[in-house]
Amino acid sequence: MTKILFIQASPRGKESHSIQLAQIYLDALRATNPDVEVDSLELSTAGLPAFDGDKAAAKLNIMTGQAHDAGQKSAWNQIVELANRFISADRYVLAVPMWNGGVPYHLKQYIDLIHQPGLLFGLKPESGYYGLLEGRHATLVLTSGAYAQHLPSPAFGEDHHSTYLRSWLNQAGITAIDELRFQPTLLTADPKGDLAQAKVAARQLAALHGRV
Ligand SMILES: Cc1cc2nc3c(=O)[nH]c(=O)nc-3n(C[C@H](O)[C@H](O)[C@H](O)COP(=O)(O)O)c2cc1C
Repeated sequence: MTKILFIQASPRGKESHSIQLAQIYLDALRATNPDVEVDSLELSTAGLPAFDGDKAAAKLNIMTGQAHDAGQKSAWNQIVELANRFISADRYVLAVPMWNGGVPYHLKQYIDLIHQPGLLFGLKPESGYYGLLEGRHATLVLTSGAYAQHLPSPAFGEDHHSTYLRSWLNQAGITAIDELRFQPTLLTADPKGDLAQAKVAARQLAALHGRV
């Protein structure tokens, strides 16, 4: 059985284009893979804990080989529980709108919580970071209102969105990454036609992935 973690970064629920497209991809993938299990994580309603001083200290103490006090221990336990849900997946689907050039803050908070030494990455003084989640696959479903790869940048915005996501996933060891893009969603003469094309691309990508 393949377990897919479906991370939803838009708070717009059924109205969200990134979630709609990801759902189409997942439905098509499930049609050829009936044994696929999808674990959906809607970040804006997940009640993520704050990344507070205890969590920062817990992380730094792990990195410097020091013990945790009681507050840090409980902070680290929360982190491990959240990270384990991510680590237990074989594949990832991330539905992510561009917000102010980057990713929505709930997703950044989630990454800050789970991207931890000994869980997603390691760090060697002589060679730097290495990922602990090698061999997994991620599909990024990316939307933005004005930004698009074919439009002049920075006039229509800059992409710290897909670049940031790729860099984070790569540091965790996840280098097999596909993208589905519906961009721009707003500054287009034919939003419905573009959405329909993006839906076709979502089904095509699922067909390309075939048996997972
Ligand atoms: C808070 C906020 C910030 C946004 N920032 C950008 C941006 O920097 N560049 C851009 O092209 N679109 C931006 N948008 C537009 C969204 O990326 C766009 O509407 C996208 O299609 C939303 O995806 P969704 O339907 O999955 O929520 C922003 C929207 C919101 C709500």
